[in-house]
Amino acid sequence: MKNIDTTVTQTESNRAAKSITDQFYEDVIAGLTETPKHLSSKYFYDANGDKLFQDLMNCDEYYPTYCELEIFSDKTADICKAITGNGDPFDLIELGAGDATKSAYLLKYLLDNKADFTYLPIDISSNVISYLNIALPITLPGLQIAGLNGEYFDMLEKAASISNKRKVLLFLGSNIGNMPVSEAEVFCGKLRSHLSPGDMLLVGFDLKKNPKTILAAYNDKEGITKRFNLNLLERINRELKGDFDINQFEHYPTYDPETGACKSYLVSLVDQKVSINNTATISFLKDEYIFMEISQKFTVAQTDKMAMDSAFKPIYHFYDSKKWFTDVIWVAE
Ligand code: TRP
Repeated sequence: MKNIDTTVTQTESNRAAKSITDQFYEDVIAGLTETPKHLSSKYFYDANGDKLFQDLMNCDEYYPTYCELEIFSDKTADICKAITGNGDPFDLIELGAGDATKSAYLLKYLLDNKADFTYLPIDISSNVISYLNIALPITLPGLQIAGLNGEYFDMLEKAASISNKRKVLLFLGSNIGNMPVSEAEVFCGKLRSHLSPGDMLLVGFDLKKNPKTILAAYNDKEGITKRFNLNLLERINRELKGDFDINQFEHYPTYDPETGACKSYLVSLVDQKVSINNTATISFLKDEYIFMEISQKFTVAQTDKMAMDSAFKPIYHFYDSKKWFTDVIWVAE
């Protein structure tokens, strides 16, 4: 049964892949013809981007991953107790699963403790989903898994159509921070509308801390973040027949301690024109920037307010030893 489910998912993900390329083209053209120019950070993660992000997670300055990993490895039992509740079967749905390193701690503990659950990882990267569908049942024998490749809300609806069990959503890493605050609030409201009272959301927030620590994480000495940003231009070259000269763009990260917004830009070093798919020409002035990504940093009070404003109740806060990152559990009211 498990194998059949996986096969269906993969066939559908192949079909979805075509429309993802069309969507990529539309979003790129829309973003680069607006003022100021911007690109959507969800397109960072192709196979190269996934690899660069792995490298970034292993570099000294990039702290969010190891802080959250510490929470998942040290507080596994407490987190699992909180999400298992009274032991009713549940679906553990992860939005933006990536390589699932953090959730693997939970999955292993839940399996060892005979919890009755199915793991439904959702990711925009088809590469990630086919990997998880194949790799996780090998490292975690007995795991019920059905990976879903696509946009969060489409896949959430699909998950709900497959099963009506209690839902526990995982939204880890800096995912929620990759939206401006007003958008994150709308997003939480939308998530809540896909849930029923008693369902849970476990969400990661990067916390405000010394501004230098934050800026260094987005401006690593090795230049991985820079390559990660430039990879999106290269992806446009590869997949949308673009002719970006990446040597003519410079990575520029900023952090504003007042608002907690950490932003990345690519700045054009010269006046230049870039052609995409032979159907669009984008002009850049020297010093014109492309806004690439926001990584918002929060206070705990801000996260509690966000929960309550979107009809959730914050019930647990887990921290790493430095209190640089928090994973909170919200229950839908
Ligand atoms: N989105 C992740 C974060 O906010 C990963 C990331 C780090 C990132 N640096 C970046 C994404 C620079 C785009 C550009 O931490």
